[in-house]
Amino acid sequence: MVTKEAVLDVLSGIDDPELKKPLTELDMVKSISTENGNVEITILLTVPGCPLKDKMTADITEGVQRLAGVESVKVIFDVMNDEQREQLKAKLGYGASVSPDKSRVVNIPAKRFIAVASGKGGVGKSTVTANLAAALARLGYSVGLLDADVYGFSIPRMLGINGAPTAIDDKIVPLRHGDNLQVISMGFFVNEDDPVIWRGPLLHKAINQFLTDVMWDNLDFLFLDLPPGTGDVTLTIAQGIPTAELLVVTTPQETATHVAGRVAKLAERTKLKVIGIIENMSYFEKDGEREYIFGQGGGKTLAEKLGVPFIGEIPLRTSIREGSDNGKPVATDGDEYEVSLFESLARRLL
Ligand SMILES: Nc1ncnc2c1ncn2[C@@H]1O[C@H](COP(=O)(O)OP(=O)(O)OP(=O)(O)O)[C@@H](O)[C@H]1O
Ligand SMILES: [Mg+2]
Repeated sequence: MVTKEAVLDVLSGIDDPELKKPLTELDMVKSISTENGNVEITILLTVPGCPLKDKMTADITEGVQRLAGVESVKVIFDVMNDEQREQLKAKLGYGASVSPDKSRVVNIPAKRFIAVASGKGGVGKSTVTANLAAALARLGYSVGLLDADVYGFSIPRMLGINGAPTAIDDKIVPLRHGDNLQVISMGFFVNEDDPVIWRGPLLHKAINQFLTDVMWDNLDFLFLDLPPGTGDVTLTIAQGIPTAELLVVTTPQETATHVAGRVAKLAERTKLKVIGIIENMSYFEKDGEREYIFGQGGGKTLAEKLGVPFIGEIPLRTSIREGSDNGKPVATDGDEYEVSLFESLARRLL
């Protein structure tokens, strides 16, 4: 005869598709009956009309059917009440300790925060961020990526993620790239072709909402992909996360003192520590010959000027651009050289 315990055991191996934790651990199993081998399971959803009901039904049915003595499997859905949802949020690390001034210091369960900045736009910040985050996730770290470029978001495309995140009450559940990378972007809420126009206060609100209302699962790293320039968004983030570290991306020709000056000023204004410089688009290699299209040495010079470590260089490669356009970052989907390049850059951040 099939027992409740046996069914529970199966359910403990099935994850909620969004929260990526076992149904049993999330207290989502309301009841189980196993009369005459006819198994009936009631699952508590966080929100009614959860889009992943079908997937859950299939996963559960498939697992339970394998038990000896099972005649039929029926999955019924119910919805959590307020109290159950509060308990779930507390379990996921929310609600338990809300910081006193919510607008200033955010309560994100991450060990390190790395904000990726540059002295000017278009140098490859988003590409570097997406690939470093993917590389660390590939190494088994739990990584978050907050796309703070709410006008010109590019992270969803670069990681090949789309869809609308669900919300549990006022908390947004990030979308995932693989198991270890959680991502939030304005791109999940607006159409890529629609221009997003933020007025000052709304911009501040949008960023703050990303800082306070996202339900991150425990993170080793949270990357923040900053918009170009040294504007308000970076300041808002610095106020919210004073322990964030700045990782600066530059191209080789940026020896001009004004770029160094801008980065230094950014660090000074935000009071964030610069952890190092990555030079992107360092050279183009063809038939074993390196061509220094954008000049040479800018990254190292900038690192020296700022007195911070030079972390490494990334060549200009068609495959890197294609990976970004096709949602297949080279750090995980590229050739052996590309995977190991981003792995070694990521390891230097450790
Ligand atoms: N190493 C590289 N090799 C080839 N193409 C690259 C490389 N790095 C970035 N690119 C390409 O350059 C373009 C700009 O990169 P990206 O969007 O990452 O820059 P950004 O600094 O985030 O820009 P913005 O300032 O607008 O946010 C993209 O098309 C990207 O695919
Ligand atoms: Mg960008």
